[in-house]
Amino acid sequence: MAKEKVSRRNFIIAVSGAAGVLAVGGIGYYLSRMPAVIDRSTKTTTFPPVATSARTALSYSSFDPRLPSNFSTPLRLPAPSEGFFGILESPSEVTINVKPSSFEILPGIPTETWIYEVPQDGKSVINPILRLKRGEKFRATLANGIRQKTIIHWHGLIVDWKNDGHPSYAIDQGQDYDYDFTVYNRGGTYWYHPHPYPAAEQVYKGLAGFFIVEDADDENLRRGLDLELGKTDIPLAIQDKRFRQDGALEYNPNQNENFMGFLGDLVLANLTPNPYLEVDTRIYRFRILNGSTARIYKLAFMKNGERLPSYLIGVDAGLLESPSKLKEVFLAPAERVDILLDMRGLSPQDTVFLKSLEFDSMHMEETMMGMTQMEGGSELEEGEDFHILKLIVKNKVTQDVQIPDKLSTLDPISVSGAPERSITLSSSMGSMGTMTMGQQMNRWLINGYSFDMYSSPIDISRDRVEVWKITNSQQSMPHPMHIHGYHFRVLERLSSPQQVKNLAVDKSGRLPTDLGLKDTVLLWPGETVRAAIDFRTRFAGEQMYTFHCHNLEHEDNGMMINYKVT
Ligand code: C2O
Ligand code: CU
Ligand code: CU
Repeated sequence: MAKEKVSRRNFIIAVSGAAGVLAVGGIGYYLSRMPAVIDRSTKTTTFPPVATSARTALSYSSFDPRLPSNFSTPLRLPAPSEGFFGILESPSEVTINVKPSSFEILPGIPTETWIYEVPQDGKSVINPILRLKRGEKFRATLANGIRQKTIIHWHGLIVDWKNDGHPSYAIDQGQDYDYDFTVYNRGGTYWYHPHPYPAAEQVYKGLAGFFIVEDADDENLRRGLDLELGKTDIPLAIQDKRFRQDGALEYNPNQNENFMGFLGDLVLANLTPNPYLEVDTRIYRFRILNGSTARIYKLAFMKNGERLPSYLIGVDAGLLESPSKLKEVFLAPAERVDILLDMRGLSPQDTVFLKSLEFDSMHMEETMMGMTQMEGGSELEEGEDFHILKLIVKNKVTQDVQIPDKLSTLDPISVSGAPERSITLSSSMGSMGTMTMGQQMNRWLINGYSFDMYSSPIDISRDRVEVWKITNSQQSMPHPMHIHGYHFRVLERLSSPQQVKNLAVDKSGRLPTDLGLKDTVLLWPGETVRAAIDFRTRFAGEQMYTFHCHNLEHEDNGMMINYKVT
């Protein structure tokens, strides 16, 4: 489908069925959102006016990530042990307060957010980077100080379901929840975020942090390339958000956005809008997390329109066996990529951009629904070309090292004789359906199910391997499917769209990211992924985990199921 130049997800007019009638949500959306006024001819935008309190008039054009000249805010980096993203080394016991806070995301303008705050030696660490070694024990007490139920989920960590943050364990304001587990995972870049049902708003309003595990392979790499977390090993959480003119975050998905995903206007890295980072001529490691609720990125490091050599070294659950040279990589919500960027060939004053390149966002559900779009809503279309982070080369240094050929080993999973389980992703709307006034909301379903907190449509016997054959229907959109408690080994991709096939590295149609251990796998419309899951478990008793779409608007609207390991 040809990329449209207009914003996709705003007014929707049903052109078949009830012709000319504004779809449900369209008008309400307009009134509640009061979209920014866009003048396409001059590319200037004024944010909606806000009653009296606006201190500074925000203008979208000064934040527009399509314009490289806008990148002038220093990237927020993890501080050793204090403030935002403070690094906590091998914390054995922490208290994590969830609470409202005010934070300068946009320069000079406080924004109401929710934060994870860990008091530490009389100081306060916000959304800490928890760094533990494999095998260490971790204990945490979550204290809920917000007027919603919440619970922390340790995304990608292998823990029993009571420690996993299943939504049924969500606690009310004023209550505590205790976690106590051993870090069994491979070294890797994991993260933590709220997992009540619904959860998206809490992530959106600021609740998310990194959980970094180090093992012997990671330590070797760190030593060999002389990497230091926060200096040359950069955790980067990418999130798109909408702001009002007074700096308030806006999260109010309408019915269409609940179905398609809520897109922001600004793209933040570590809660910094339009960031830059000063670098030296050496190798850097970037641990990139897509912490957005719905937006997919196609990442590449670019210098004057040329791709800079970069190497994929790790994915969701740790290092690949060997580095894979990378041109570009799709990163869907919740996925992580670990990339080495070699800047030894650059000179002081050179600039490099981490960009999201143009791609087809493949919202095929629109054809199914017989819809066309009009302007309004998010300023930044999914699949548009824009910038995320500017790197400015400062100093010439010499680094005489080699990127190792061998990074780690992955235990092979034997799938001979393993049963195959079919999982289908579809919507509640029939293929001939059209959206009309008063119709029930459309939902995305997994094997025909919408989430029910206490029932589990899938029972799995422990200690065996299964092959999951996950199929996304043709008239669908991309769904990043995430499994709790275990990891996927992708075996093959079938019927992938051309833009995905173009990046395949083997006959099985796999992508470089499929060569590692995954907890989240992106399925494009019409695509099938076959993945092996080893359901061996070290936890006694029945475990109930969730399997869901990590487009958080989808997850919040039922695209999630429980599964039990018995
Ligand atoms: Cu990151 Cu069930 O989620
Ligand atoms: Cu998870
Ligand atoms: Cu989805």
